[in-house]
Amino acid sequence: MRFTVAIDGPAAAGKGTISRGVAARFGFAHLDTGLLYRATGRRALIAAGAADAVGEVEAIAAAKALTEADLARDDLRTAEAGAAASRVAAIPAVRAALLDWQRGFARREGGAVLDGRDIGTVICPDADVKLFVTASDAVRAQRRYEELHLAGHDVTYEDVAAQLAERDARDAARDAAPMIAAADALQLDTTSLTAAEALDCAIAHIEAKLSKT
Ligand code: DC
Repeated sequence: MRFTVAIDGPAAAGKGTISRGVAARFGFAHLDTGLLYRATGRRALIAAGAADAVGEVEAIAAAKALTEADLARDDLRTAEAGAAASRVAAIPAVRAALLDWQRGFARREGGAVLDGRDIGTVICPDADVKLFVTASDAVRAQRRYEELHLAGHDVTYEDVAAQLAERDARDAARDAAPMIAAADALQLDTTSLTAAEALDCAIAHIEAKLSKT
């Protein structure tokens, strides 16, 4: 059985929690595509030797050299890796280098859920289910702050909010596959939902689609 679920939306809206829950519930494979850009950004940072010196050449080479082992690193969740990811993600050749791998993953036997920014629009325009997950800026900043704080990172709420706003603006304004809801995506606003409630909404929607296939 092939069944693809595309989940897009801004940072810290709940995509990751929903995607992992959906994958567990239906036995689908899960790909957090943000990790591809984070790992690319991190490799490019190391190659360039300085955060503000990441050029297109390093970023494209980094995307082409990416392996599954790069995605398993635990230093990809830092604010620095997120900022580098957002920068390399605006380079069309980087996105092109990561396209086939994502499409191959989406078509795997047994079903797949991919979360990111352009899954329903560019990577899998024919996905069986598309969700666009959002939440207010303040709630997203608070969630990301708590996440980073719990993981032991020394951050302030103000810094996290500013970084999220900067990243969302860049992700939405870029020419290459900007973050945008697909016309046929179900919009899910998680601002006043618990993680369990948001997951229940997603599962109910997917079950309705699955029963028709
Ligand atoms: O979801 P995340 O925070 O891990 O994503 C990191 C960055 O990667 C984000 O700023 C946008 C970019 N990204 C993208 O452009 N396309 C995707 N499919 C996933 C992430």
